[in-house]
Amino acid sequence: KPLVFSGVQPTGNLHLGNYLGAIRKFVALQETHDCIYCVVDLHSLTAQLVHDDLEDQTRQITAAYLAAGIDPAKHIVFNQSRVPGHAELAWIFNCVARIGWMSRMTQFKDKAGKDRENASLGLLAYPSLMAADILLYRATHVPVGDDQKQHLELTRDIAQKFNNDFSDRIAARNLGVTMQVGEEKVQGYFPMAEPLIGGPATRIMSLRDGSKKMSKSDPSDLSRINLTDDADTISKKIRKAKTDPEALPSAVEGLEGRPEADNLVGIYAGLADTTREAVLAEYGGQQFSVFKPALADLAVEKLAPIAAEMRRILDDRAYVDAVLRDGGERAGKLAEATMKDVRGIIGLSQG
Ligand code: TYM
Repeated sequence: KPLVFSGVQPTGNLHLGNYLGAIRKFVALQETHDCIYCVVDLHSLTAQLVHDDLEDQTRQITAAYLAAGIDPAKHIVFNQSRVPGHAELAWIFNCVARIGWMSRMTQFKDKAGKDRENASLGLLAYPSLMAADILLYRATHVPVGDDQKQHLELTRDIAQKFNNDFSDRIAARNLGVTMQVGEEKVQGYFPMAEPLIGGPATRIMSLRDGSKKMSKSDPSDLSRINLTDDADTISKKIRKAKTDPEALPSAVEGLEGRPEADNLVGIYAGLADTTREAVLAEYGGQQFSVFKPALADLAVEKLAPIAAEMRRILDDRAYVDAVLRDGGERAGKLAEATMKDVRGIIGLSQG
């Protein structure tokens, strides 16, 4: 049965890239799938271990999920650290995965920088915890932005190695399911989780530099639109966004070599739930002096209600905490069933 899992780190400054690349897709998938949406607080320890406001940041992401339209009665919303299976399965995956796989990850290389010997072991093992998040629920579909693609490939590698290394023990316990992998049908315990990366907004770039991803950690606040920005701030940031002097092209090929123009058209398409082609059919030939105000209006129209709803939800901390508690209980039951199987497959004594 298809099951969706995804997560967002509680590291502040939830931005338009997070919304268009991930959260908006989370909302849409609720109609067709069972979904589990997690606030991955354990992952955020790799960025900052001592974290005065981690609980508040966790509530912020939760409020964003709810304000965007995720229904916690129908689906599961919780924070990762409530369910111990995440850390337990991650440990087992640390013993399945190879150091080489981890050290090849571009996110590790970027975040560790030059002084790699001094990066935390947690930063290196980050993808192993992410694989555990997904596979703890045997999720089959994972909506993410483009930057997580490599981690999803690694998740499949871990699943595949586990399935292969323990194939006899999985079969002996009758725990295998048949899966289609490419042309082949294979048996295994963990599914080959598929990334859902699609649409016009899988990689939103900085508003100040079309070659850099929009990110929570960019020191310039002008580089991103935060989900909590007010209408004036959103308009100002779009007005100040870097562009080139040309008018917009009438076809997508004309966006090649124009990363800033491409980014703004992609953002428009993402917000309007349409394609770059459709946006250019309307605005091709127009100057940015026309396009930017239209984009600002659209962004305010789509984002302001979410920001207002987030504020309203955050006023009721007890409610947010109750959502996480309830979600954690439901997730915990599913997780425990998987961990029982996994402990049995590996041969960890459970008698
Ligand atoms: P995080 O918290 O960095 O980002 C959350 C989601 O937002 C997407 N995203 C973007 N999409 C488009 N354009 C951008 N500029 C942009 N920036 C971020 C990310 O791709 C992500 O989908 N490792 C994950 C969290 C995680 C996870 C998981 C995700 C932990 N366990 C299991 C899926 C499944 C992360 O750091 O996301």
